[in-house]
Amino acid sequence: MPKCIIDGKELEFKPGEMVIQVADRNGIDIPRFCYHPALAVVAQCRMCAVEVEKMPKIQTACSLPAGDGMIVHTNSDKVKKTRASVMEFTLINHPLDCPICDEAGECTLQDYSFAHGAPDSRYEEHRRTFIDLDMGPVIKKNMNRCIHCTRCIRFCDEVGGFREMVALKRGNSTEITTVDGKPLETEYAGNLADICPTGSLTLVDFRFKKRAWYLAKTKSVCEGCAQGCNIDVNSENGVVFRHLPRENMEINKWWICDEGRFSFKYVNAEARVTEPTVRTADKKLDFTDWKSAVAEAKAKATGKVLVLIGSDLTLEEIRAIQAFAKDKLKDAALFHFGTPGHLKASDDKAEDKILRRTSKTSNLHGAEKLGLKGWDGQGKYDSALVFRGGRAMMLTDLRKNVGGAIIGVGVFETAAIDSYEVVLPGLSYTEKSGTIVNWQGKEQKLNKAIEPVGQSRSVADVFALWS
Ligand code: SF4
Ligand code: SF4
Ligand code: FES
Repeated sequence: MPKCIIDGKELEFKPGEMVIQVADRNGIDIPRFCYHPALAVVAQCRMCAVEVEKMPKIQTACSLPAGDGMIVHTNSDKVKKTRASVMEFTLINHPLDCPICDEAGECTLQDYSFAHGAPDSRYEEHRRTFIDLDMGPVIKKNMNRCIHCTRCIRFCDEVGGFREMVALKRGNSTEITTVDGKPLETEYAGNLADICPTGSLTLVDFRFKKRAWYLAKTKSVCEGCAQGCNIDVNSENGVVFRHLPRENMEINKWWICDEGRFSFKYVNAEARVTEPTVRTADKKLDFTDWKSAVAEAKAKATGKVLVLIGSDLTLEEIRAIQAFAKDKLKDAALFHFGTPGHLKASDDKAEDKILRRTSKTSNLHGAEKLGLKGWDGQGKYDSALVFRGGRAMMLTDLRKNVGGAIIGVGVFETAAIDSYEVVLPGLSYTEKSGTIVNWQGKEQKLNKAIEPVGQSRSVADVFALWS
């Protein structure tokens, strides 16, 4: 393997690798705005300036192929001076409105300004100004903060798969926009906010909701489909504020889709049933205590019982339900449910060329691995127990198949329980830890991010009360 020397360290590299890639792999930090490992190299921001021995001019590390015997300095006086002047130029038009910018606290421009910039500006001309614009329902654009790195344009072209962003005009008048000002069509628009190194593109949904530094970040897995994209759940005081993608080169690389990004909404929704609930004689819903609700459920889960298990539950929960049914429900039939038309794992297909799968629950492949078959909407039963994690969708109206009580255990919304006699509120993916299996057969861990909402309890707690 050829070797180069960066900041005095002798480092091996693969022929064709750029200096910035060799540095990244070895923990040497080179600042950058326009470079992103997923996108074509354009070398237009000049922030990754490095000095190379025997080369008279400063080089850009993102576009410089590493050479055998090459000696690179990333922190020489010449490099520091170049970076400072790049920062000064980059900030010429920037409004420096960090106190009211959603990106503050996680902004590359802010960090580099602090680390490499000057404490004041010599610029005395007018700064250009634009009004904020919605680029569709997901992204808000503040062009004043844009530094023309073009990551957003390249993301749409190269990852999204079609050109929907462009740079108009030249020089100081350059404006980044969608083609003809149309709303963004990509189902992956939220990633633009992640890769924009400034507060120029932010999420409409998250705007002005919470300062980034107040948020706890819990490593977890998206439950929006069978892809199992890795995410950080961002929360504070029991409230989930957003999902951010977490890099996993084997599953989701650096991205998540918009459906997965905003799939947390039901966790803290008012419509979620979070108290043990029973239906009274006059058919109204009534909150009660856990003991009474479980006693009611136990008394009503009789005869031939249909047990429907959401493929949005973890392996641990499914195993516990299987053991419970074997032990407590003598005449029970167990099936999984989750996405209409997905009775078996092989029904799950790629929904696009990027990440999304057609199974809209996260653990269809795990449920099948544990021997469950999909519910086909057939058969007659005396009662039903429906276990649901929060995403699983019912194929048909259960009333056609079930003569007696329908009992829900898990996450339900008030509007969806008209035919239910009892609801025992359970945990969403943010309130528990467990294992799910994605379409590639990879087992991944969900991690608890917040305490259970209201009186919600785990499946294991429900079974302990049932005994
Ligand atoms: S909007 Fe953001 S990502 Fe796009 S060019 Fe401007 S700074 Fe770069
Ligand atoms: S592709 Fe699926 S797992 Fe990935 S973010 Fe979207 S919904 Fe979530
Ligand atoms: S990161 Fe190299 S020029 Fe922008």
